Amino acid sequence: MLIGLGLGPGDPELLTLKAIKILKESDKVFVPGKLALKLVSPYTDAEILDFPMTHDKTRLDRTIDHNADVVASEARHRLVAFGLIGDPNFFSTFTRLKNRIREKYPDIVIETVPGISSITAFASRIDTNIDRSFVVSDGSPITTKIMLKTRTPKKIRDRLIEEGYTDFIFAEKLFSDEERVTDEIPDKGDYFSILYASKRDAEGE
Ligand SMILES: C[S@@+](CC[C@H](N)C(=O)[O-])C[C@H]1O[C@@H](n2cnc3c(N)ncnc32)[C@H](O)[C@@H]1O
Repeated sequence: MLIGLGLGPGDPELLTLKAIKILKESDKVFVPGKLALKLVSPYTDAEILDFPMTHDKTRLDRTIDHNADVVASEARHRLVAFGLIGDPNFFSTFTRLKNRIREKYPDIVIETVPGISSITAFASRIDTNIDRSFVVSDGSPITTKIMLKTRTPKKIRDRLIEEGYTDFIFAEKLFSDEERVTDEIPDKGDYFSILYASKRDAEGE
């Protein structure tokens, strides 16, 4: 089994209790660089897997392929953690690695465990707060909307369809005993709910 593990935004004290537990229990831990290595080192030994920062698609592809083989060979029969800065599902090396492992080794179970993302953590450091809608961008087209407080999810979905969004997941009371995650968007939602909407990138990426 492979766990993509969020290590938080850079402060060793901002790892979650769950992250520390998984690091201690894992048979093998990989990280993509020195900062992640520093964050896991109080709890376990880890191996750095090189992910070069390059736009050379062939080189990138070759590296992901190689790293997928290395990680999969360990994760087939043992518990493997791959620790990443911030959250493993936001602008993360882990996504490409996970996709390649799923293609090549569909029998390997892969999960992700959230970490505190720089996307939320920065606000404490610069002493600001956000209570209106905001944009997170790395310059690529906007293809996702995350709607909070979705008490009328179906109505909101219908509005988003008009904006070109095509795929929707409703997530309510996450991480609680009453958690509900569904693509059958209900009429009514709890205050503690999120509607995730996505659409294909017009550039086809
Ligand atoms: C590849 S993304 C990884 C994001 C990460 N998965 C997360 O959830 O924070 C790297 C970018 O995240 C931002 N970032 C991550 N950690 C940061 C930190 N400690 N301080 C400022 N920016 C940070 C920077 O914009 C950086 O270029």
